[in-house]
Amino acid sequence: MSQVQILPTIRELPDVLISQIAAGEVVERPASVVRELVDNALDAGARQITLRLLGGGIRLISVEDDGCGIPADQLPIALKRHATSKIVSLEDLESVATMGFRGEALAAMNSVSDMSLLSRIEGASSAFLLEGQTGEIRPAARAVGTTVEVKELFFSTPARRHFLKSENTELAHCIEAVRRHALARPEVGFAIWHEGKIVEQWRSQPGEAGWNQRLADVLGEDFVASSVNIDFRSGPVHVRGRAGTPDAARARADQQFAYVNGRFVRDKVITHGARSAYEDVLHGQRQPVYVLYLQMDPARVDVNVHPTKIEVRFRDSREVHQAMRHAIESALAVPRAQLLSSTQLSADRTADSGSANQLQVTPSAPSQQVQGGWSQRGMPFDTQRRAEDSAQALADLKALWGGPPKVAEQTASFTSTPQLSSITSDTSPQEAQEWPLGRAIAQLQGVFILAENKQGLVVVDMHAAHERIVYERLKLQLDTTQISSQPLLIPSAFAATPQEIATAESCAEVLAQLGLEISSLSAKTLAVRAVPTSLAQGDAVELARSVLAELAQHDAATVVQRAQNEILATMACHGAVRANRKLTLDEMNALLRQMEATERSDQCNHGRPTWRQVSMRELDALFLRGR
Ligand SMILES: Nc1ncnc2c1ncn2[C@@H]1O[C@H](COP(=O)(O)OP(=O)(O)OP(=O)(O)O)[C@@H](O)[C@H]1O
Ligand SMILES: [Mg+2]
Repeated sequence: MSQVQILPTIRELPDVLISQIAAGEVVERPASVVRELVDNALDAGARQITLRLLGGGIRLISVEDDGCGIPADQLPIALKRHATSKIVSLEDLESVATMGFRGEALAAMNSVSDMSLLSRIEGASSAFLLEGQTGEIRPAARAVGTTVEVKELFFSTPARRHFLKSENTELAHCIEAVRRHALARPEVGFAIWHEGKIVEQWRSQPGEAGWNQRLADVLGEDFVASSVNIDFRSGPVHVRGRAGTPDAARARADQQFAYVNGRFVRDKVITHGARSAYEDVLHGQRQPVYVLYLQMDPARVDVNVHPTKIEVRFRDSREVHQAMRHAIESALAVPRAQLLSSTQLSADRTADSGSANQLQVTPSAPSQQVQGGWSQRGMPFDTQRRAEDSAQALADLKALWGGPPKVAEQTASFTSTPQLSSITSDTSPQEAQEWPLGRAIAQLQGVFILAENKQGLVVVDMHAAHERIVYERLKLQLDTTQISSQPLLIPSAFAATPQEIATAESCAEVLAQLGLEISSLSAKTLAVRAVPTSLAQGDAVELARSVLAELAQHDAATVVQRAQNEILATMACHGAVRANRKLTLDEMNALLRQMEATERSDQCNHGRPTWRQVSMRELDALFLRGR
């Protein structure tokens, strides 16, 4: 049976249909319209942008600005496809500094809604109104600037309208779209009205100081209080903004804002770079919070990848990943205790977190890092201290899993550096008050160290804190040496997949760095011949399998780093002082001083806090003093 083949006729699509198809890419929901219109207002130099919505933006979106306006004779052109005032050539596109450049947003909206443009330029006799449906233009009243109204979105394409969610959901997306703009442009004021009621208002915050205020206005003062300032240059990439402390992490990734040259983007390289900076201090699935602005030569980033411009492509994604990672990592590494001591932070920090003065105070310390200020202050990046630390690390390392048990016993106490204990004994109470984590006064139930500082009481989880100190030392030590490896008396053989065998062969060198030796016995069997000394007691096959799986998936460099860190974390946990061990005051003080000098000492290796401050104000409140 032969089927009759009907020859298709090729036709050119009508203009309206072309626009409607194109609109599908740009206008997905009311929030996309909001994003495009606010982009346009910002490009026009607006200082105040007012958004009015009805029905979650489905019935009406109106965006009003005080920008430069559009001349009457150009109003109809603005609605045409591929019509823009922002670029004229390919070179312009490659260095584009405006939000828009495709010249298609208004045309797309016009094809799927009932739209109007009302605009007035400086020096014009009046404003002019253009009706999108009819193309009719008439004089109207308005100050300089533009109002764009988009009514009944998708009225002509009912199928799309069905995809919209409830009014409340659409409203929430619209607000989110403005929030993203607001975080990037503190000097511009924003107001959002829904059904005649104001739902958000962010006043213009000009000047450098405006940034933190805008962040506080949009994300809450808690965000600013529990984040650190970032100002970091790495090659051609400049990263600024704020990153939350591990404590501030959330269950959802809903407070991660990244901007490239002022444009909000969602980008895997950026997200991954940020996430990796938290790897060591965040436990489980917790999501970090941050607002970060990346600046780079526009030629290093292609913004013309996606119609909505939310995706970008970097010329060198490695440099961006590293910049993100190092920017956050170095700011977070500074123990909070140092921030406390290096600023005018009052005893009230914990009591009324988020007070106005804190906005200026908290960020000052980490930003100095960029200018290399840390070393002058003798803090952890001091080379001398680093040298001492790695000597200490070596001693610890030997004691923990290399040397005879007798030495281990000794080093597990904190007084391993003699001068630490003498400092403690000889210091006057006034001097002791200056120590960020204070002077040890007691040990509680064999678990906590209690200390007294200027602000009041400090409570330290001694195992968690020591674990981090040992871990950081081991990492430091590993920068220069290899993990020691121990051959197995009887190699552990296991049935391996072809993938595992291939990985074991191609990554032999990386495996060796990790202290692992895995070779093939036959076409289907691998044998583990050596494991890291510290893990000699564990299941060699399980270890080999998980490392091979990681190696197969990831880029070798990150696996080595991560696997090393994991191994070290396991070792640190075994090496750290156990609960219920009696410590002398000198030992406790030595631990506190080590914490002050150790990077990331605010969190244990699993991301939990190692210490808490209880301020005098909180203690007073407990006892109703001063009421
Ligand atoms: N609020 C506004 N104020 C002044 N001019 C505007 C405004 N909105 C649009 N225009 C003018 O209309 C033109 C078309 O706007 P449209 O958003 O369609 O394209 P675009 O912004 O140039 O590029 P894109 O499609 O990438 O957004 C703009 O280039 C600009 O000249
Ligand atoms: Mg535009």
